[in-house]
Amino acid sequence: MKGMTATRDAIFETRRSTTPAPAAARARILADPGFGIHFTDHMVTARWTADAGWHDAVVGPFGPLPILPGAAALQYAQQVFEGIKAYRHADGSVWTFRPDRNAARLRASAERFFLPAPDDTLFLNSLRALLAVDHDWVPEPEGEKSLYLRPYLIGTEQFLGVRPSPEVTYGVIASPSGAYVGGLAQPADVWLSEDVVRAAPGGTGEAKCGGNYAAGLGPYAEAKAHGCQQTLFLDAETRTWVEEFGGMNVMFVTSDNRLVTPALTGTILHGITRASLLQLAAEDFGLTAEERRVSIAEWRECVADGTFTEVFACGTAAVITPIGALKARGFDVPAARDTAGEVTRALRERLTDIQYGRVPDTRGWMVPLHD
Ligand code: PLP
Ligand code: COI
Repeated sequence: MKGMTATRDAIFETRRSTTPAPAAARARILADPGFGIHFTDHMVTARWTADAGWHDAVVGPFGPLPILPGAAALQYAQQVFEGIKAYRHADGSVWTFRPDRNAARLRASAERFFLPAPDDTLFLNSLRALLAVDHDWVPEPEGEKSLYLRPYLIGTEQFLGVRPSPEVTYGVIASPSGAYVGGLAQPADVWLSEDVVRAAPGGTGEAKCGGNYAAGLGPYAEAKAHGCQQTLFLDAETRTWVEEFGGMNVMFVTSDNRLVTPALTGTILHGITRASLLQLAAEDFGLTAEERRVSIAEWRECVADGTFTEVFACGTAAVITPIGALKARGFDVPAARDTAGEVTRALRERLTDIQYGRVPDTRGWMVPLHD
């Protein structure tokens, strides 16, 4: 199989694991999967080289990758990734949500890191090929469980001079998942990162690259030390404007029926949940969707005077998670409310109803992965 077209249209070669998890062990995991702890029996890998394009597309047993210590991904972080879920519907079929958006974002992230990326067809085929063998790992929808899919790209050339790797691996691993943080009844408290920023203009904030998350681990530790579950980042230039959390976008519901979220200024991840909720809010709930700058002072004042009635975080892993208190070194902003608000609940219900096939998908967002 040589070149992009070949792999794009081709069937992934499947090499089945000889040691899959016994059904009883899998059932125990699926009953209470946690997040990102357990992995399925198989994984996808495909190789790209500058002269042959994409080739060697395989679904094989889950296990270690052959990677040399001097590889570009390990030494210089030439790496990007995606996060997307597989949802089981009531008839047993398995679906995913807006994969074209994830494929496009993977390409955008890859471009920033000078990596080649799969096109829509190779991306979707890779998910389908994995689900063809690991579909039993998609949990039943109760408790809003799903199979979290993690596509990634890594530069694999071993070379200590800095240059774009002419050898790249695309992979997909899958991890059954429950709630990432909190839950509707347990708003997540968040910590304001005052010294460390996540992204700067011209930097990598818009890309989904591992380095953004590694660089947020210091503030994350600070958040944990203050009893918080997430870190809130501000803009790099003025430390005034709210950008996003370490792993999710932020949204505010106002007393005059607006859904407000920071505008995409080049330093915020283009969240697919964010975009979908802005659309659902406007089209299905008659809210005014507003993408604009929100200052930390506005958060403080508007929670205090009741203008911000609900604050929540959104993302693939997080779905929609109500935000509790915002804590900072010099001040605390109490939770806008003790539990998830009405709009938070309604948006979450509508989004998950679409994802789990409980209401008709009138926008063509759902794409089948397995019958
Ligand atoms: N922001 C960051 C930093 C994230 O890691 C994520 C998760 O993917 C999001 C926002 C939400 O994006 P999405 O809704 O596409 O999952
Ligand atoms: C996702 O929601 O897919 C993410 O990548 C966030 C990550 C922190 C788990």
